[in-house]
Amino acid sequence: MLPYETIHICNPDAMECQEYKEAGGETSRHLEGEMVSSRQSIPSITTKQSGSSNMTSFKNIAVVGGAGNLGPAIVKALLDADFNVTALSREGSTSTFPSGVTVKKVNYDSSDSVTAALEGQDALVSVIASPAIKNQIALVDAAIAAGVKRIIPSEFGINTRVANGAIAKILSAKVQTVDYLMEKAKSVPGFTWTGLANSLFFDWGLTRGTVGFNAATKTATIYDSGNEPVSGTNLAYIGKGVAGILKHPEETANKYLCIASFTTTQNEILASIEKETGEKWKVEHVKTADLQKSGEEKLAQGHPMAFPDLVRAWSFADGCGHAFKPGENAAGMLGLEKESLEETLRVWMKEKGLIA
Ligand SMILES: NC(=O)c1ccc[n+]([C@@H]2O[C@H](COP(=O)([O-])OP(=O)(O)OC[C@H]3O[C@@H](n4cnc5c(N)ncnc54)[C@H](OP(=O)(O)O)[C@@H]3O)[C@@H](O)[C@H]2O)c1
Repeated sequence: MLPYETIHICNPDAMECQEYKEAGGETSRHLEGEMVSSRQSIPSITTKQSGSSNMTSFKNIAVVGGAGNLGPAIVKALLDADFNVTALSREGSTSTFPSGVTVKKVNYDSSDSVTAALEGQDALVSVIASPAIKNQIALVDAAIAAGVKRIIPSEFGINTRVANGAIAKILSAKVQTVDYLMEKAKSVPGFTWTGLANSLFFDWGLTRGTVGFNAATKTATIYDSGNEPVSGTNLAYIGKGVAGILKHPEETANKYLCIASFTTTQNEILASIEKETGEKWKVEHVKTADLQKSGEEKLAQGHPMAFPDLVRAWSFADGCGHAFKPGENAAGMLGLEKESLEETLRVWMKEKGLIA
C-alpha cells in the first residue's frame, strides 16, 4: 500500500498541479489530442467567481439518477448529512428511493418540467447514466432557470480535465458539460459548479471484475507489470465526498476536485488477498497496449465495449502516471476520513465467502 495522505488541496487541474499554478491557469496547454481545443482554462484556486463570495450554505439538494449504481451512496450521504433530498426520476422509471427523499417524476425532454421540479433547490447533483450525459447541457439550463446555485455534474470517474486520446472522445459529453458550467459560472451571478473525479469505483469494481480480481475463479488479471499506482474510491466515500462539497460551498466553488479512498497497485491488492486467504491465486497477464488497440478499434466501429478496454489501459498501463498524487486528493478538505484498502478487501472477501 502506498502512503496515503489527505491533503486539503483543491487544485482544479488536479493532474498538473504545480505546472498549472505557475502557468496561470491554462489547463488546455497540458493536453494532447482532439479534446485540447474544446477544453477551457479553470480559475486559479485563489480566484472566486463573483457570486460565490456571498454564499452561505446549501440545504435543499436535488439528485438526478439517484437510484443507479452510484446514486444510492450519494443520496444516503446527503441524508446522513441532514440535507433535504429531492430525487428527480424519469416518468415511467421504476427507481425507488429511501424514505425521507421527495421524489419528483420529470420529463427530461421538457425544460419546463425539469425547471418546475427544481424550484426551491439550492444544488443539483447529477449522477445521470453515462448514455444520458449528453442531456446534461439542457439539465444545466433548466437548473439555472430554477435558480439552482451549485451543480455537481455526472463525472465520478477519471479526471476528464486531463483525459486525452481515444478515451477523451468517449468522455467528450462530460468535458463539454464542465466547459459549459464554467461559462455559466462566469455569466450567471451566484451560479457555481464543482466537478468530482474519483478514478475507479473500487468496491463496486472488485465485485464486477473491473479492478482485475475474480473471486469465483480466484484469478487475478494483471495489466502490464501490475506495479502501476492506481487510485480507487469506494461508493460510500464518493457519496461522502459529494456531501462534503455541499458542506464546504466556498472552498469548492468552481473547482474540479479529485478524491480517492486509496492509491495502490494490482500487485499490492493481490498480495493482500493471498495473505488474508492463505491461498495462491491464478494470475493472467494482459498487455495494456493490446487493450488500447482493441479499445480504439471498437471505438472506430461504434462498439459499446470500447470504454472498458480504454479505461483499463488508461488506469493500469505501466508508467501512465494517472493515479492521483497525494497532494491532489481533496478528501481532507472535504472532511473525509482515511479508508483502509485491507478492510475494503476483507469486506469483499467475506461477501464472496473467501474468508470467514
Ligand atoms: N469510476 C467508475 O468506475 C464508474 C463506474 C460506473 C459509472 N461511473 C460514472 O458514474 C456516473 C453515474 O453512473 P451510474 O452507473 O451510477 O449510472 P446508472 O446506474 O447507469 O444510471 C443512473 C440513473 O440515471 C437515470 N437516467 C436518466 N436518463 C437516463 C437514460 N436516458 N438512460 C438510462 N438512465 C437514465 C436513471 O434514473 P431514473 O430511472 O430514476 O430516471 C438511472 O437509474 C456516470 O458519470 C458514470 O460515467 C463511473
